[in-house]
Amino acid sequence: MKFFVDTASIEEVRSANELGVLAGVTTNPSLVSKEGVSFHERLKEITDEVSGSVSAEVISEDAPGMIQEGEELAAIAPNITVKVPMTLEGLKAVKAFSDKNIKTNVTLIFNANQALLAARAGASYVSPFLGRLDDIGHDGMELIASIREMFELHEIDTEIIAASIRHPLHVMDAAKNGAHIATIPYKVFGQLVKHPLTDQGIEKFLADWNKSI
Ligand code: E4P
Repeated sequence: MKFFVDTASIEEVRSANELGVLAGVTTNPSLVSKEGVSFHERLKEITDEVSGSVSAEVISEDAPGMIQEGEELAAIAPNITVKVPMTLEGLKAVKAFSDKNIKTNVTLIFNANQALLAARAGASYVSPFLGRLDDIGHDGMELIASIREMFELHEIDTEIIAASIRHPLHVMDAAKNGAHIATIPYKVFGQLVKHPLTDQGIEKFLADWNKSI
C-alpha cells in the first residue's frame, strides 16, 4: 500500500514529502477553503513539489461543467488527477475524462456498487470514505475488502484509495484489507511513527552510550 497525504497545505505537503514515502496528494473543497489561497496557484505549488498523483476536485454538479473544470485543472500539470463526486453526472464526466486520457479519482464512495460503476466508467482511482462510515456505525473496512475482492474477481485495475482516515489503526487495516493507497491527514503520519517503546529504547541506548565514554 502506498501513502498519499490528504491536505491542501503546502507546508504539510513539503513536510510529508521529506519523509521519503509520499506517493501523492489528495485535496478536497473543504481542505482548500481552509487555506484562503487561489486553488489553481496552490495546485501548481503542490505539483511542483510532488511528482505523484495530485487529486483536485471539481465543484460543478453537471457533467459539462465538471468536464470544463476538470480540463482546466488537468492543464495545470501532467500529474493532476481530476476528482469527481460519485453521481450520475459524475460518471458521465469520468467517461469523458477517460476517453481523453485524463486521470480521475471518484470520491465519496460509500458502497461497493458505486466503486464498480466508477471503475467501469474508467476511473483511475476510487475513494471509499472509512471515517465517515464509521461515524454512522457502519464498517468502513469491510467496504475496502469488498471492493478489492470485486476488482480482483473482475480483473479491474482501478486503484482503491482508503480515504477519510482518522487514526493509525485505519491505516494498518486498510493495508491488510487490500487498499492500494491510503490518503492520510498529515498529523497521522506523525502518529504512525510513534511508539513509546521506541522512545524508551532510544533513551536507554543513549544513556548507556554516555556512561561508557
Ligand atoms: C479524500 O480524498 C478526502 O479528501 C478525505 O479523506 C475526506 O476525509 P474527511 O472525512 O476526514 O473529511
